[in-house]
Amino acid sequence: MVSFHSLLAPITTLFLAILFNVSNAQLNATFYSTTCPNVSSIVQTVIQQALQSDPRIGASLIRLHFHDCFVDGCDGSILLDNNGTLRSEKDAAPNTNSARGFDVVDNIKTAVENSCPGVVSCADILALAAESAVSLAGGPSWNVLLGRRDSRTANQAGANTSIPSPFESLSNITAKFSAVGLNITDLVALSGAHTFGRAQCRFITNRLYNFSGTGNPDPTLNTTYLATLRQNCPQNGNGSTLNNLDFTTPNTFDNNYFSNLQNNEGLLQSDQELFSTSGAATISIVNTFSSSQTTFFQNFVQSMINMGNISPLTGTNGEIRLDCKKVN
Ligand code: HEM
Ligand SMILES: *[C@@H]1O[C@H](CO)[C@@H](O)[C@H](O)[C@H]1NC(C)=O
Ligand SMILES: *[C@@H]1O[C@H](CO)[C@@H](O)[C@H](O)[C@H]1NC(C)=O
Ligand SMILES: *[C@@H]1O[C@H](CO)[C@@H](O)[C@H](O)[C@H]1NC(C)=O
Ligand SMILES: *[C@@H]1O[C@H](CO)[C@@H](O)[C@H](O)[C@H]1NC(C)=O
Ligand SMILES: *[C@@H]1O[C@H](CO)[C@@H](O)[C@H](O)[C@H]1NC(C)=O
Ligand SMILES: *[C@@H]1O[C@H](CO)[C@@H](O)[C@H](O)[C@H]1NC(C)=O
Ligand SMILES: *[C@@H]1O[C@H](CO)[C@@H](O)[C@H](O)[C@H]1NC(C)=O
Ligand SMILES: *[C@@H]1O[C@H](CO)[C@@H](O)[C@H](O)[C@H]1NC(C)=O
Ligand SMILES: *[C@@H]1O[C@H](CO)[C@@H](O)[C@H](O)[C@H]1NC(C)=O
Repeated sequence: MVSFHSLLAPITTLFLAILFNVSNAQLNATFYSTTCPNVSSIVQTVIQQALQSDPRIGASLIRLHFHDCFVDGCDGSILLDNNGTLRSEKDAAPNTNSARGFDVVDNIKTAVENSCPGVVSCADILALAAESAVSLAGGPSWNVLLGRRDSRTANQAGANTSIPSPFESLSNITAKFSAVGLNITDLVALSGAHTFGRAQCRFITNRLYNFSGTGNPDPTLNTTYLATLRQNCPQNGNGSTLNNLDFTTPNTFDNNYFSNLQNNEGLLQSDQELFSTSGAATISIVNTFSSSQTTFFQNFVQSMINMGNISPLTGTNGEIRLDCKKVN
């Protein structure tokens, strides 16, 4: 027997949704299947091209998606340029002289607009670029959920405070992930993106020479690795000199990041903390991902989907930007 309530509940929900303009639209993998069926391969082709002259570009692109999603959700806000009134996220502390790949995003957008004008958001381009970057580097492939729309604003103050810093404690970083609905499994899996790409000396010199004002290096740093890093990053040297985040396989997406942590060869303080913080629940997750690349890949894909789902603009909210650098 169909009860009165079982009939009424969905009607009431629909009514309330219309009344309060509540959009619970979900992203899905087929969002552009009729309007831009080839979008994934267009994105992939441009990245493949860019990798020919810049083996680092995939790493730079996935980082843009991360820094986009952590600030008011995955809404392309990181791509907006500074202007008279808008204070860009590009100029926020975690991004300035650090975030890169914006020119390649523009090339992707141009190629996508040529095939499907006015259809694909810049926020979705970042999500697609992240997946292509990982799979082209030897990592997993997955169906990217789509349907995000682009913001009409940026939040520089939010970028300053919401994106984790490499100098923070594990508990502070965990709190920043938790603030966007990601747990410590997501934290460890997503940190595995540091299996490729580079970091500047200015982010590690404190670990090499004077950690927490002790006058000594970070005691969790492998002494052999310390010597290598000191050669590349001399005291009072150029802080923008680059280091491989994964010194074993710098451009390959694999699980060596986690065995590096077990050997005390994590590059950033925030990397090594996942394994070296006494009693932390992240340690066993590092061990699991180090012992099984398959398990790491499965968790990484799930966590990328979780991160990509952070408060997207959907339906009629936001817009489809025609130029990722500026509001329509
Ligand atoms: C857990 C907290 C995290 C911290 C503290 C952190 C910090 C950093 C720092 C300081 C750099 C070097 C930037 C530079 O030298 O200019 C970097 C690079 C990078 N990060 Fe993270 N990151 C974190 C999480 C993530 C996540 C979740 C992802 C992606 C899923 C990611 C992907 C990358 C990649 C691929 C690079 C290399 C970029 C390039 O070579 O251009 N990171 N990160
Ligand atoms: C994907 O999402 C869009 C927008 O919410 C919707 O129109 C479409 O029907 C969805 N497709 C599937 C297969 O759920
Ligand atoms: C889709 O894009 C790829 C790469 O850009 C291209 O090789 C292919 O011909 C395209 N297919 C269609 C049906 O447009
Ligand atoms: C800067 O961007 C904001 C947000 O898109 C826009 O409202 C404003 O008109 C722009 N200002 C200038 C000087 O272009
Ligand atoms: C963000 O941080 C940068 C660099 O520290 C600073 O110059 C800027 O004023 C900050 N922006 C906001 C809106 O707090
Ligand atoms: C952790 O966050 C607290 C509160 O924001 C701050 O006072 C503290 O300096 C942070 N610690 C580290 C190591 O970043
Ligand atoms: C984190 O969330 C995932 C669901 O996405 C769940 O499977 C996992 O067990 C959670 N991890 C922890 C440590 O709670
Ligand atoms: C290390 O840093 C502390 C605090 O900033 C400072 O007092 C000390 O002189 C430094 N030691 C060395 C050897 O540079
Ligand atoms: C530091 O290195 C960067 C790139 O490697 C270079 O552009 C810059 O001029 C250098 N700065 C100094 C002070 O040598
Ligand atoms: C330091 O690194 C070497 C080479 O990876 C490794 O064999 C050794 O066990 C590491 N030492 C420590 C204390 O982790």
